[in-house]
Amino acid sequence: MQTKILLSEDRIPKQWYNIIPDMPGPLAPVINPRTLKPVTPEDMLAIFPMALIEQEMSPQRWIEIPAEVREIYKLWRPSPLYRAHRLEKVLGTPARIYYKYEGVSPAGSHKPNTAIPQAYYNKLAGTKRIATETGAGQWGSSIALACQMFGLECTVYMVKVSFGQKPYRKSMMQLWGAEVLASPSDRTTAGRAILARDPDNQGSLGIAISEAVEDAASRADTCYALGSVLNHVCMHQTIIGMEAKEQLALVGDYPEVVIGCHGGGSNFAGIAFPFVADKAAGREVRILAMEPASCPTLTKGVYAFDFGDTAQMAPISKMYTLGHDFMPPGIHAGGLRYHGASPLVSQLVNAGVVEARAVAQNTCFEAAVTFSRAEGIIPAPESSHAIRGAIDEALRAKEEGKEKTILFCLSGHGHVDMAAYDAYFSGKLEDFEYPEAAIKESLSHLPKVEF
Ligand SMILES: Cc1ncc(COP(=O)(O)O)c(C=O)c1O
Repeated sequence: MQTKILLSEDRIPKQWYNIIPDMPGPLAPVINPRTLKPVTPEDMLAIFPMALIEQEMSPQRWIEIPAEVREIYKLWRPSPLYRAHRLEKVLGTPARIYYKYEGVSPAGSHKPNTAIPQAYYNKLAGTKRIATETGAGQWGSSIALACQMFGLECTVYMVKVSFGQKPYRKSMMQLWGAEVLASPSDRTTAGRAILARDPDNQGSLGIAISEAVEDAASRADTCYALGSVLNHVCMHQTIIGMEAKEQLALVGDYPEVVIGCHGGGSNFAGIAFPFVADKAAGREVRILAMEPASCPTLTKGVYAFDFGDTAQMAPISKMYTLGHDFMPPGIHAGGLRYHGASPLVSQLVNAGVVEARAVAQNTCFEAAVTFSRAEGIIPAPESSHAIRGAIDEALRAKEEGKEKTILFCLSGHGHVDMAAYDAYFSGKLEDFEYPEAAIKESLSHLPKVEF
């Protein structure tokens, strides 16, 4: 009856898993927003170092993790896999529930798994400064930490609604040496244009990305870093699923269902892709992405080419999208408010390899409270979506009287999100289902791309 299943430091994976060669079909091209032609590595060099561009397009299944990166990973990796005995008891389920806990990283989430290698490759390429965006502040704090470790300057455009809701995330970024601006800001043309039209604009990830990309493209010493969505980011996170698989093997188990919350797709890819590989090889496993009903990209978006940002500066990718000018409401799971999704996850959803479900935020907080009262850990509001999925699966197993192994990724802790819990306890959290008409309107502005 082990509760924590641990691996020693020498079991930190030595390679990342690149799912590209195992995808169900060829990848759609990524399109340059100016030329409407496929992007070339040269196009991307304005904002990314070559090593990351190569990883983005690599056909190699395994990519070596540099020794310097593995050395820093040792600060929190391998992360623990927990068997949720106490939650199982509270639910009265015959299911075995396991969660891979990424909140043990210094920033409190899975995001440093990619922030560290991104800062490392930028340092090697001679980059002096990183410009980036952040929603809830989890990515911003992770890249601030990574830049600090590699001696890079860092500017973070933080979505304004979170800047107000999560002041301590801002303090964390500042502690790790980053400059933090509320987005839309007056620092960029994109930000100024939005403020001129709407001075009270609360921001969105799409807007903050536009600001960070513009900042990086306009300075030779600066590169851009993205905390999710891109292929290389998803790949860096696959150490989560690889470790989890090894940990489950230690207790002789394997999941019937693997669950992650979905914002841009990186923690989901991290826990899921190593199991997608097994599924592609014929093993039976369900893979489930949980997203907020207020920003239902995978369940209500269309699978189409769209811009990654609001100001149409970021590349156009084929992905599930709600439209690049979609303005999600200011929910507390700020990290899940993105109009698009990882093209890799999108393709897997479209091919029926991955299932997606949208859930309202109050039911997620209810699940988070049940979890926390049983297991102790206070989950990030984003992660609570995965907990909702896991509890629902466990309750279904109870109804059906079936044993079942459930694995989910607890992508972060909620210590800096207590205002969200306060709002939940005082009944102030609204469930917002994005109106179909607003989604339709946003989708009418998709770029016309012929590929
Ligand atoms: C704790 C946590 N989980 C999940 C997410 C969603 O991002 P992604 O879909 O890239 O994993 C975020 C984003 O900030 C987050 O902070």
